[in-house]
Amino acid sequence: MSASISRPRLLVSRKLPQDVETRIEQSYDARLNATDTLYRADELIEHAENCGGLLVTPTDKLTGEVIRRLPASVKIIATFSVGFDHIDVAAATERGIRVTNTPDVLTDATADIALLLILGAARGASWGDRTVRENRWGPWTPTGPLGVQVTGKRLGIYGMGRIGQAVARRARAFDMTIHYHSRHALPQPLEQGARYHATLDEMLPQCDFLSINCASTPETRSSIDADRIALLPDGAIIVNSARGDIIDDDALINALQSGKLAAAGLDVFKGEPDIDPRYRSLETAFLLPHLGSATLDTRIAMGMRALDNLDEFFAGKRPKDSLNG
Ligand code: DGY
Repeated sequence: MSASISRPRLLVSRKLPQDVETRIEQSYDARLNATDTLYRADELIEHAENCGGLLVTPTDKLTGEVIRRLPASVKIIATFSVGFDHIDVAAATERGIRVTNTPDVLTDATADIALLLILGAARGASWGDRTVRENRWGPWTPTGPLGVQVTGKRLGIYGMGRIGQAVARRARAFDMTIHYHSRHALPQPLEQGARYHATLDEMLPQCDFLSINCASTPETRSSIDADRIALLPDGAIIVNSARGDIIDDDALINALQSGKLAAAGLDVFKGEPDIDPRYRSLETAFLLPHLGSATLDTRIAMGMRALDNLDEFFAGKRPKDSLNG
């Protein structure tokens, strides 16, 4: 019997770093995506024929409808991401399909980006970069344009999971005072002096900066809306390295246009990459194209973590990062 016959068949929906693809080819009968074509739902379902597992990414929208149409051979969906809002986990569970994600390994890279957003938004990085590139740089001036001081300010963290805590650790190096809102307070040793707020509304008036680090769920979607933004101090700054749909774009854009908010730093957007075009012309918005986990080290670690889960599953074990049982 050839080795390939006994190896599980795996559909890999996107091109992954070489080290990850090398490991995939050693253990799986793999359908790789060398051209990195974005599969439409029908194509994904077609390519999944006879596959035991799918290795997908946030660009694959595995709605309940798509999951119900997957071939019966599919027993596990491993996503190359910590976020899993692109997968209807309940529908997968109903079909007996295991779902796994890749927590931990992208915590530091994503927290680094949150700090870049805080600094970039506060200090006008976007405006500054364009001024130099477009040859609009005039003489140094004592009075402006001026940014917002970060050191010593109050940072509110919405979602104090692994990434939120890593953001807090970094922000302490800037002498920021940490406030946070999560479903539950952290055990005291992990709080490191951060102040817990049982409700978001209670925390917002305390935030010179608000960092969004929660998952996208029915409860958090559009939760940063006009009413919530109104609770922030005038001149506050919002940064988002979690998911775009947590913010109501109309509300954020109005608040930037009116000057209620001094700036925003956004790495994620509702409907990305087709973002609300009004962001592009806002001088006070520092915009990045979803770079949270985008370092080679982290992307390799994400791939290896997804493969650990797949290996465990196909060895008959419960994968460490199982999201459903
Ligand atoms: C994730 O893993 O959910 C990230 O958004 C990808 O960078």
